[in-house]
Amino acid sequence: MSDTNVVTTENIQKTYAENGVEVHAVRGVDLEITKGEFTAIVGPSGSGKTTFLNIISGLDKPSSGKAWLDGNLLSEMNGRELSDFRRDKIGFIFQAYNLIPVLTVEENVEYVMLLQGVSPEARRNRVAKMLAEVGLEGLGDRVPTKLSGGQQQRVAIARAMVSHPKLILADEPTANLDSKTGSELLDMMGKLNSETGMTFLFSTHDTLVMERARRVVVLRDGMIDRDEKKG
Ligand SMILES: Nc1ncnc2c1ncn2[C@@H]1O[C@H](COP(=O)(O)OP(=O)(O)OP(=O)(O)O)[C@@H](O)[C@H]1O
Ligand SMILES: [Mg+2]
Repeated sequence: MSDTNVVTTENIQKTYAENGVEVHAVRGVDLEITKGEFTAIVGPSGSGKTTFLNIISGLDKPSSGKAWLDGNLLSEMNGRELSDFRRDKIGFIFQAYNLIPVLTVEENVEYVMLLQGVSPEARRNRVAKMLAEVGLEGLGDRVPTKLSGGQQQRVAIARAMVSHPKLILADEPTANLDSKTGSELLDMMGKLNSETGMTFLFSTHDTLVMERARRVVVLRDGMIDRDEKKG
């Protein structure tokens, strides 16, 4: 395990028991993600993408194998440590946006920094800067239901990035968007990745989205089938 890795996994396996039948969702995945990567995990439905991402983020535990995030072995943390660690190290972007409906755009983006005890002035500055970066200036006072899906996902991207986590993790971030909006969003994420050097790992089915990744890891039946780095 290299110290500069954001993510390292070693022979991760996950087996579910479903009505007495064993489902081998992940079957021995070794993966290293280094700082600044912009990587897509792709593969057919049921190939283990979500299961694997949930293990990397500590939301789910592997049946065997080890996972490190920012050099920390996840299996050595208890539940409380893990949830604090997740909050500080990972920015999540969800398929269904998962914004808090009763909070404004600004408040949604500010929320994690509130939990982290960042000062009000720093919070205000960072939120304003981040909303400008994702092209949402002037919309900070709106509630999420008054935004389009693409705009809501921009809020989610701003929320995920604003506290500068080690890893931005997104399971099918464009699945609820039309392909043009999804591609635009990925272009924006790619630009933010280049500008900030933040590390992005996302899963997708969408070939247009896949094309925008700088590294594509193909899962098939819970194993890495191909791992292609571009340029
Ligand atoms: N909680 C669970 N209990 C039992 N089996 C599960 C569970 N979660 C996932 N599986 C099974 O594990 C395999 C991998 O599922 P997973 O959701 O990781 O695939 P995926 O690549 O994310 O698929 P999709 O592209 O449809 O989102 C599938 O066979 C699935 O049915
Ligand atoms: Mg999935």
